[in-house]
This record gives sequence, structure tokens and C-alpha cells, in this order.
Amino acid sequence: MIKYVVNGGRELSGSVNISGAKNAAVAIIPASVIVEGVCHIENLPNISDVSLWLDILASLGAKIRPMGPGGVEIDTTNLNRTSPSPELMRKMRASYYLIGALLGRSGRANVAMPGGCDFGDRPIDQHLKGFRALGATVGIANGIVEANSDGPLVGGHVYFDKVSVGATINVMIAAAKAVGMTVIENAAKEPHIVDLANFLNSMGADIRGAGTNVIRIRGVSKLRGGSYTIIPDQIEAGTYIAAVAAAGGDVRINNIIPKHLESITAKFKEMGVKIEENDDSLRVIRHGGMTGTNITTLPYPGFPTDLQPQIAAVLCLSDGMSVITEGVWDNRFRYVEELRRMGAQIQVDGKIAIISSIKGFSGAPVCACDLRAGAALIVAALAASGQTVIDGIIHIERGYEDIVAKLCELGADIRAVDFPSGNPVMVTA
Ligand code: EPZ
Repeated sequence: MIKYVVNGGRELSGSVNISGAKNAAVAIIPASVIVEGVCHIENLPNISDVSLWLDILASLGAKIRPMGPGGVEIDTTNLNRTSPSPELMRKMRASYYLIGALLGRSGRANVAMPGGCDFGDRPIDQHLKGFRALGATVGIANGIVEANSDGPLVGGHVYFDKVSVGATINVMIAAAKAVGMTVIENAAKEPHIVDLANFLNSMGADIRGAGTNVIRIRGVSKLRGGSYTIIPDQIEAGTYIAAVAAAGGDVRINNIIPKHLESITAKFKEMGVKIEENDDSLRVIRHGGMTGTNITTLPYPGFPTDLQPQIAAVLCLSDGMSVITEGVWDNRFRYVEELRRMGAQIQVDGKIAIISSIKGFSGAPVCACDLRAGAALIVAALAASGQTVIDGIIHIERGYEDIVAKLCELGADIRAVDFPSGNPVMVTA
């Protein structure tokens, strides 16, 4: 069993290149299903969620052709199946985008309920509300979402009860070829929503307003193939800012869009981390102490929930008391138990975590329970005295391309080590 072994206490230096955005990639790849042509997509991150999506599309009859690092050609002209394997669907959250894509393409979809990180209840009622607004009948039976429309979908109006990235994406994809205008209100505004709209528009769709809370989609009868390059991953970039903040050092983070990181860089600057911004890169410097602060995670442009575990690890090392209020998920503090093994002093009460300052983390055997929890454990391990062995890296590798190699490039002592017995033993240096 492969685990990450980190010998902490080394400052980071040098530069790191940010990969394509995971949450854009896992929406754009299934959106190729509604294109019914050849899509050439560049800057895909080399992560397991992307490989899984390409396997799923191939299982439906799409032709997949690698086009060099981060590039792929997906030909969805001839799909011969509309019910992907439930086992594959359960492996990630984003699999539910196939419902919107298949419904928009052929008027029917039978897709197993998705999997994904466990933050408590993760309903999909807003997705179903959106599909119904487009004239589909939708139900869930035996763990399968069944959606059908007699003939093409018809443009409709949906006002989401909650801001939902997934529901906004799913309805946008489904509505791209609906007859007439679809209006989505209370839409999510994340960078990957805009990226998906830009992808679909580059394939001939007519989508306006992505990035605002009202998106208008005028359905078109046909989409054409084309080429598209995915945006860089602001959460990966924020994770490296957290790594430098925790371990200390001076690092250039290349290939970013500063606007996408505004709430993240503002918060780290507030804590005393020095951040110099350029057109497509940041320089992050932390040598002295940091001051604690309070954070509430919110939909974009608020502070992203997907960076909450990572900044919590940094707040443990900051002076004073800090409070995190998790504004998106019911239970996104499961990683706290693992940070406590490394010396963290965090009290959790529902959606609130109260973080006391500690002198430093100590290395320990820990286990990642989800993608961003795993990233937080790496952030803490880089700053810890002694050795940390991180299990559960399958979660981390869903969303971080080459994280071990990238951190080694920055001077970290981190290795992927095979533990045949599976027991968390300390590894000699
Ligand atoms: C996406 O999840 C991301 N995943 C998550 O990132 C991210 O945490 C989340 O958006 C918020 O930004 C992908 O993009 C693959 P939501 P999603 O629908 O779409 C409630 C990561 O680490 N809700 O915006 O599932 C829901 O319970 C992952 O990269 C409903 O009530 O999130 C939550 O409280 C983890 N009904 C809130 O809305 C619905 O039908 C936001 O969920 C849908 C959502």
C-alpha cells in the first residue's frame, strides 16, 4: 500500500507550475457528450478523476485519443450506451454531470447516484429541479437517477433554492440544446462555471451571464467540435500558498489567474504572509510569525470551502485564536481528528472550529479521509518536526497532479513509499 512519508521542518523555495483545474476538467469532459463531435481539450490535469472520466466516456462508445501532456481528443459522435456502469459512477461526485449531458443529447439518462467526498448530506434535489424545469421527468429508484423527456428538452426557468456548483453545471449542459431560452437564477459563479460556459460556447452554444447569478442559455440545434484549454486550478494554487505559509520559505507559483485567487490571497496576506502578484504568477514569502484570523467559507467569490482544511492547518501555527465557520458543507471537519494526532488544538462544534495556536506540529501516522483533508495533512507534515506517514493517498491523487514531485522540486522531503504490510511504521530517512 503506497503512503506518503514526509520529514518536515524544511523551508520551501523555487517555483511550481499549477495544473489545469480539476473541477473545470470534471465538468468539461462530460460536456463533450452533448457536443456529438470531436473535442480537443488541453491543459487537463494528470489526476485520477480525469482518467476515470475518460474511461467512463470510452465505456459509452466515445473515441479517446491522447494528444500529448494534458491534451486529449474526445470523439462523442457515436455513443452506443446511455447507462454507464454504477461502479464507475460511484467513484466520484462529478459523475452526475452525465445526467445533464445524456438528457440534453438524447432525451434520456439512467445514471447511478454519484460518490465523492463525504461531508455529510449531499442531496441532488436542485439538479432534479433544474431538469424538471426543462421538461424532463426525473426519479430515483434502486440508486439510479432516471431522467426522460419526450423529445428534446424545452428551455425553462429555474431559481435554485441554494447556490449549487453541480446543479448549475448540470442544468447548463442539459440546456445547451434545449428548444428555446433557459434562465438559471441564483446560479453558482465559480471560475469553473465560467470555464464550462466558455467551452460550450466555443463549441457553438449560446450561453450568457456565467460568473453572475443569472445565466441565460439559448438552446441551439447542434453543437460542433472544436478546441479548448482549461483554466488553471485556483485550489491547487491555494494549497501551495498554504504549504509555503506552513513550512516557511519563498516560492513562485506559476500559471495562475490572480482574480480567481483574490479571496485566498487576501486572507493569507491578512495573516502576515507576503504575496507579490504578477500577471500569471504569485511570489509567496513567509519567514516570520503569522497572526490568526477568522474565516467563513462561502460560494465564490467568498473564501472557498475547498481550501478550508488547508488553511486550518496554517492557522494552527498562527498566533492567537482563530475561528473557521464552514458555510457550505454540513460536516467538513473530519480531518481535525487527524491534525490532533499531530498536536493540533482545535475544538469543533457543528459548522464552527475554534483553533488555538500551537508551537508546531509533530510528525505522526495519519490518514486522509478526503481530497482536501489529505492536502491539509501534507501542509501540516511539511511544517512538522519529525516524520509523518500519510495513508489514504488515493483521495489526494484524485485532485493533485504530481504533488510529491512538485513538492520535492520545492525542497520538501516527501516520498511515496510502498508499505506492503499496510501497517503505519516509521520509515528510516
Ligand atoms: C462542488 O461540489 C465541488 N466538486 C466541491 O469540491 C466543492 O466543495 C463544492 O462544489 C462547493 O464549491 C466538484 O466540482 C466536482 P454544491 P458540489 O452543489 O457541486 C447543497 C473538491 O474538493 N446542495 O455547490 O457537489 C450541498 O449539500 C470538491 O474539489 C443541495 O442542497 O457542491 C451543499 O451544502 C469537494 N442540493 C451546497 O449545496 C443540491 O441539489 C453546495 O453544494 C446540490 C447541492
